Amino acid sequence: MHYIYNAPFMEEMKKTTANMYRLGWDERNGGNISYMLDEKMVGVYLDLDNVIRRIPIGFNAKPLIGKIFIVTGTGEYFKNISDDPESKLGIIRIAEDGCTAELLWGYKDGGKFTSELPAHLMSHMARLSVDPENRVVTHCHPTYTLAMNQVVPLEDRIFTRALWKTCTECIVVFPDGVGVLPWMVCGNNAIGEATAEKMKEYRLVVWGLHGIYGTGKTMDEAFGLIETVEKAAQLYMIPGSMPRINTIEDDQLRAVAERFGVEYRKDFLDL
Ligand code: 13P
Ligand code: ZN
Repeated sequence: MHYIYNAPFMEEMKKTTANMYRLGWDERNGGNISYMLDEKMVGVYLDLDNVIRRIPIGFNAKPLIGKIFIVTGTGEYFKNISDDPESKLGIIRIAEDGCTAELLWGYKDGGKFTSELPAHLMSHMARLSVDPENRVVTHCHPTYTLAMNQVVPLEDRIFTRALWKTCTECIVVFPDGVGVLPWMVCGNNAIGEATAEKMKEYRLVVWGLHGIYGTGKTMDEAFGLIETVEKAAQLYMIPGSMPRINTIEDDQLRAVAERFGVEYRKDFLDL
């Protein structure tokens, strides 16, 4: 059996959570990550027949039965994960009943997965239905994105346009736009269902006055999407109430999208 602390997926979790903390996106226990792992790869590090604990997940995740995820623990601080991954992360497998998580490794102090597991697993289901290669769901609280939530209407088209117009690369990085949910109570199935509905259309979903979800085939893709939104939100907020005399026009957005051959939300442009 190989040493799990050196597994590539463990290194990615440690590096990403530390980076996100340093960027100021994950104060205290803010944020959570779930990363779907290949069963054969996990089998190199763990005895897959050894279930440490069974934890109810509070809904039926039938399409994910048998799937294995590494998931951040609830209440855990991203800044501490790389020092003690076995307490602050867990590897779970969705059991045959679809309603139970089988703990294969981690949550050593008796903890459990993030309180946002419904949003994570429901988002995995939604993304996999449109992109079978999706593996990562990430949630965090980036500062400028949240600041922007106070001044821009919480609506997909308006919010996406505001971001696209700050910075030329945005429409290339997230041509599919950003879904936006109104403020909602977090940590329950209702916000999970609302998030998953948006995830059928978008890889990025903003939770009004709370944070953002980014998804992708890889950790880099999910991270890069959030990073680009946050950069654009920063550019949107820094000028404050100064008059905006230059902005990227709709025909220019179209020209960039066409140059890079991306499938963009044409209905989000006024042409
Ligand atoms: P957890 O500590 O349960 O992951 O919650 C953090 C968070 O960001 C809630 O939205
Ligand atoms: Zn949160």
